[in-house]
Amino acid sequence: MKLKVIAGKLETHKTGGAIILLFENEKLDNAVARIDKALGGTVSGLIKRGDFKPKPGAVHLLYPEGRIAAERLVLAGLGKRSEFTMNRLRQAAGKAAPSLRTAGARDVTVLVEGFGRDLEEASQALVEGSMLGLYRFLKYKTNEENDRNRDVTTITLLTGTAGAVKILQAGARSGVVIADSTAMVRDMVSSPPADMTPAVIASKARELGRQFGFTVQVLERTQMQKLGMGALLGVASGSAQPPKFIIMEYRKGGKKPLIALVGKTITFDSGGISIKPSENMDKMKDDMSGGAAVLGAIRTAAALKLPLNIVGLLPATENMPGGSAYKPGDVLRTMSGQTIEIINTDAEGRLILSDALAYACRYKPTVIVDIATLTGACRVALGQEATGMLGTDEKLKQKIREAGEKTGERVWEMPLWEGYYELIKSDIADMKNAGGRDGGLITAAALLSKFVQKYPWVHLDIAATAWTEKDRPYTPKGATGIGMRLLTQFLRDYEKKD
Ligand code: BES
Ligand code: MN
Ligand code: ZN
Repeated sequence: MKLKVIAGKLETHKTGGAIILLFENEKLDNAVARIDKALGGTVSGLIKRGDFKPKPGAVHLLYPEGRIAAERLVLAGLGKRSEFTMNRLRQAAGKAAPSLRTAGARDVTVLVEGFGRDLEEASQALVEGSMLGLYRFLKYKTNEENDRNRDVTTITLLTGTAGAVKILQAGARSGVVIADSTAMVRDMVSSPPADMTPAVIASKARELGRQFGFTVQVLERTQMQKLGMGALLGVASGSAQPPKFIIMEYRKGGKKPLIALVGKTITFDSGGISIKPSENMDKMKDDMSGGAAVLGAIRTAAALKLPLNIVGLLPATENMPGGSAYKPGDVLRTMSGQTIEIINTDAEGRLILSDALAYACRYKPTVIVDIATLTGACRVALGQEATGMLGTDEKLKQKIREAGEKTGERVWEMPLWEGYYELIKSDIADMKNAGGRDGGLITAAALLSKFVQKYPWVHLDIAATAWTEKDRPYTPKGATGIGMRLLTQFLRDYEKKD
């Protein structure tokens, strides 16, 4: 995507499609009033008659027919100014830009006028919203050349204030990096499991490391054996695909804190011997969404040159049935030394994470954040509106919560009280990997908490938010890329507050 920021007047700016963002119950600001005048009062007329209400999510397409230079014009609602958030801006741009593409525009121009302060953030949000709304996954379509040709190739931010250009450019630059990383995560998650194996993800990480400047080390099965990663190896035992333990280190923070990010990377979850029903099993290609989000966040941190130290850990394997697969009844010895009795081979995420979290502790990190499509129970509890959050440190949880509000990738906390630990007690091992139906989201996190030692830790369950069956304002149906923007915002804000 080509991004431009220019100062000028929308009336005379040639573009396939212009976007004007409007607040509810407000008189048109200067730049918009001029457009309205050029269009013979069409905009104010639509609003006055109530044919267009500038509510969040509302869009209205107009054809100026030569009265201004834009071929098409979309009015997009922002709702009330008193309720304004960056996410509203993202949503408006995310609905307006694709509607212009459908109409036939090949470039879009957003008029950036009238949202006061925080121009840099606004510009980032507009770029993110448009690019993420325009996202499509066409890699496996062979007969959609026309569709592909109709991609929007340029986004222009247009301001009437020459002095604003620099600051808009700064926001737009971050916006492009963040949107590109999110698109990469969506692509990875949408890819067929045969094309997104642990080995493919490992080479993707290596390639990104070279391109953006972070180191990547990949542990093979024999090294995992030496380290005693019995849980990860147990899960991998049924698969013909060799497991990989991917370690990414980005160190541009000098003596600053070290943040460990851990992402569940099951490239296909069949359930193993406790095999899943076939309905929706195809969706289990998304079980590497946590790993992809971590990869995306480190890509972004490196591209934005954040002054931080980050280590990203991706335990990557399939979960498959077969003659050599691990079984219910088995006891696995984890890298930490603790043992886990297997009740259900479909509760594999917590197993691979137990070894990855133990590995994270070797860095003596300041904080650990893990992200995983861990439990169906998370969807039962929160639906698709929030990511489940559990953890041991109030400050860290607060930081994640704030990053969630800012990005629109909201999280909601669930408790980790003592009583829940009763549910994962085993008769023969230190714990068992499945605790029954009660509090399934929580018992999974309770198991994880046994592997983080004393380090401040937060767990994010994205099982319900990594994939959407319906189009959302800047998230077309399919892989959402969730976690990438959340983790990135968390990283960018990390030092600002304590
Ligand atoms: N990857 C699944 C969780 C999941 C379910 C993600 C649905 C997305 C949609 C995880 O490995 C799993 O199978 N969890 C089991 C745990 C149970 C056996 C204790 C579950 O949630 O059913
Ligand atoms: Mn599973
Ligand atoms: Zn899984």
